[in-house]
Formats: sequence, structure tokens, C-alpha cells
Amino acid sequence: MKIFIINGANLNMLGIREPDIYGNKTYASLVEMIREHCLKKGIEAEFYQSNHEGDLVDYIQSAYKNADGIVINPGAYTHTSVAILDAVKAVGVPTVEVHISDVDSREEFRKTSYIRLACKKTISGRGFAGYLDAVDFLAEGK
Ligand code: DQA
Repeated sequence: MKIFIINGANLNMLGIREPDIYGNKTYASLVEMIREHCLKKGIEAEFYQSNHEGDLVDYIQSAYKNADGIVINPGAYTHTSVAILDAVKAVGVPTVEVHISDVDSREEFRKTSYIRLACKKTISGRGFAGYLDAVDFLAEGK
């Protein structure tokens, strides 16, 4: 099984950005944690991070016939991007939306998620562990 782990805007700044909200661990340590988890489960994980909406769309499109699942945290594009929603719909690959923070208990604008409409599940407010839960969910084939 092959899963794409996609992170959007500002997630490369983990460890630096608002540690009270996102913690003090880096993006590199997030990748390492997911990589180890996938290795143990015999899952192939491919990682991608970009701050650019169109690049995220291109990468999601590359999942077509190429990935069995997508775990995605689009960052702020969650709340704005119809293009990212449409890309997930276009490829038809089972997708789980992840947020490190609990988006539903923050500002009002964070309660809107376009991508959610195309996702099998949303995991929010579980910190880095949410990505592992998302991988497990996809691995169970739910
Ligand atoms: C985030 C929540 C978003 O509202 C925010 O714009 C992010 C990170 C999270 O992981 O909690 O960049 O997706």
C-alpha cells in the first residue's frame, strides 16, 4: 500500500510557528515519525510539502493510479481552496484531512473546510498523532 502524506502552507515552519498551538517539534521530525510508523506497518509513504496552492494541486493529481490513499493537511488552504477540493475529487483516491490543532475550537473562519467535502474522515486537534491515526484509518481500508 502506498500513501501520500501532503502538507500545505506554513507546515514547513513547524517547531518555529506558534508553538503554543502547534508544539515545538519540526516538520522533519513529523516526517520521521510517520515514516517509522509506516515502515512498521509495511506501508510505503511518500511525503510532500508546499506553500503553493497550484503545486499542491499538481501533487494531488499525481496520486491518480499512483497512490492508494492520501493524508493531507492543507494548512490555511483548508479554509479557502476549492481547487484543492476539486483535485481530491478528481483523483478519487481515499483521503483523510488532518489538522494538528482543533480547528473547530479556534477562530470562526477555521470552521470552514472545503476539502472536507471530499474526505472520508477528518482528524483535528490530535497533534502529530493525528497523522498516524489517518494512516491507520486508510490502512484498515475504511
Ligand atoms: C492547521 C490549521 C489551519 O487553520 C492553519 O491555517 C494551519 C494549520 C492545523 O494543522 O492545525 O496552517 O491546518
